[in-house]
Amino acid sequence: MEPHGGNLRRAKERYGLPAGGWLDFSANINPLGPPAVLKQALQQVVETKLQHYPDPESKNLQQVLAHHHGLKPENVLCGNGASQLLWLALAVWPKGRLLLPVPSFSEYERNARLWGHELEFFPARESEQFNFDLEELYRRLAHCSGLILGNPNNPTSTLVPKSDLIHLASRGKYMLVDEAFLDLTLDQEANSLAPLVNDFPNLIVVRAFTKSLAIPGLRLGYALAHETTLEAMKELQVPWSVNSGAQAVGEVFPLLTKYRENTRAWLASEPDYLWQQLNLLPGIKANPPITNFILCRYKKSAAHLAHALAKKGILIRLAGNFRGLDDRYFRVAVRLREENKRLLAALKKAL
Ligand SMILES: Cc1ncc(COP(=O)(O)O)c(C=O)c1O
Repeated sequence: MEPHGGNLRRAKERYGLPAGGWLDFSANINPLGPPAVLKQALQQVVETKLQHYPDPESKNLQQVLAHHHGLKPENVLCGNGASQLLWLALAVWPKGRLLLPVPSFSEYERNARLWGHELEFFPARESEQFNFDLEELYRRLAHCSGLILGNPNNPTSTLVPKSDLIHLASRGKYMLVDEAFLDLTLDQEANSLAPLVNDFPNLIVVRAFTKSLAIPGLRLGYALAHETTLEAMKELQVPWSVNSGAQAVGEVFPLLTKYRENTRAWLASEPDYLWQQLNLLPGIKANPPITNFILCRYKKSAAHLAHALAKKGILIRLAGNFRGLDDRYFRVAVRLREENKRLLAALKKAL
């Protein structure tokens, strides 16, 4: 099984290229696609900047992001996608025992192990709609050195409210909060820990434009943390990790008010619509989504569903390789209404 969604080359090797191209529900990307201004910014880079090295410190972008979050530039480190920042974050923490709620994004576990941390898993219960028992989490932190949390969490599409996060952070343990999907929730910044990175020196917040601006191919993410933490992370970072195109695209982010409004309008209706429709399908139980993807359980292995859909050019993400789930689980991104309808129709046929 693929470790991540969105691998179109592998899909092509297995199923051939579908006539109309792939309809990809396996990666959770804003279906509005990259905004036009981003493409213009990229075009300009192609015309004027390819022959030069990118700014190794992404200074302009760092300032734009600091301003956006009301922080100092020293609180911002740009990187090659959220993944690079997760990797760096776990590299600079002293080796310890980390509490990891599961199921969650597999890179947390992989990076923690790579850097020699021990892990203690904290399973979410489906009977609680995969919301974590926060009091228990708080208690378990007592004998752990830190906590890794996706907020929203992948693949469960759940969110821990800010007040609870602050309660957890007040434990004084190391805390890595991955907010890669937070821009794709309706409350957005209201639940972000970004403004608190100077109050909690052990806190690292990771963010990305990957999902919200639909640019997984470009690789752009950033970490927000106390400057001493970021200095340590920077020392380990490969130079020029953020290419000129990614920097230019990030710098126009503040101009995207209309795009963000359109995204919000879509978020206000579509995840709920798809969730309700999925639950009408026989044998499928869909977990309520807080963001742009939905975790589903089929009554038996979902492999044949994924196979039948792929043969029609539709990709979903089998979720059996997330720790704590099994082969009945699959995850679908939420896309535009017509696309969601195509998914629903194809699922209905395949069931
Ligand atoms: C929760 C979560 N964080 C981070 C990432 C990686 O983001 P990026 O592509 O910016 O490295 C993913 C990708 O699927 C994800 O699901």
